[in-house]
Amino acid sequence: MTKKKLIAANWKMYKNPAQTREFFREFLPLVADHTRDEIVVCPPYIDLCAAVEETKGSNVGVGAQDLHWEKEGAYTGEISRSMLLDIGCTHVIIGHSERRQYFGETDDVVNLKLKAALEAGLTPIVCVGEVTEDVLRRQCLRAFHAVSSKKAGRLVVAYEPVWAIGTGKTATPQLASDAHIVIRGEAAKAFGQEFADKLRILYGGSVKPENAKALMSEEEIDGALVGGASLDPKSFATIVKY
Ligand code: 13P
Repeated sequence: MTKKKLIAANWKMYKNPAQTREFFREFLPLVADHTRDEIVVCPPYIDLCAAVEETKGSNVGVGAQDLHWEKEGAYTGEISRSMLLDIGCTHVIIGHSERRQYFGETDDVVNLKLKAALEAGLTPIVCVGEVTEDVLRRQCLRAFHAVSSKKAGRLVVAYEPVWAIGTGKTATPQLASDAHIVIRGEAAKAFGQEFADKLRILYGGSVKPENAKALMSEEEIDGALVGGASLDPKSFATIVKY
């Protein structure tokens, strides 16, 4: 089944609002005619308003890199689903391996955040990507826990093998495909085969202009989550147009 691929940028902790505006002024004209793929950029929180303003009326969506699972409350430093929606975000990354590794984010927290994002109508990009297959399966199982197929509608999963993130080492298209089949299998168990067939599973980990085409040509790979190579407008545009 051919699905519209999603090419998403994860800027991590890079760029301020002025640099964000500068990026879009260069990037948008480069992809203005591009309709084949869905394009989303996820900058740091403080850049979201600038990103939404700059991309208004364009073919590029804006997402956050995280959210809190509660609607509101005394949670210093956190951002809620409605705050993201109110400023015009459409997507949100959940459970990135850097959040799991450096900020102690657990599978249960990922599950809470996923439910919060789905409830709000945001498109969650849930990241998984451990080295071993059983851990990968567990990450999926726990992330999808108690989410019904009806509610999971917008779910997107990103497979990001930890060893490939920011290392310049990319999974071969075959290796990524194999992992995507495992993830799709877990999605089928949780949500049914029909849902799993439609689920978009992105690959992330050192995606670059040079390897994007080979990865995106794989039947099992439904898009990319791009870190370092998404910070430069020309480089990200080349990836988008693989
Ligand atoms: P790099 O593309 O820099 O390896 O980062 C991948 C990633 O973590 C995207 O979320």
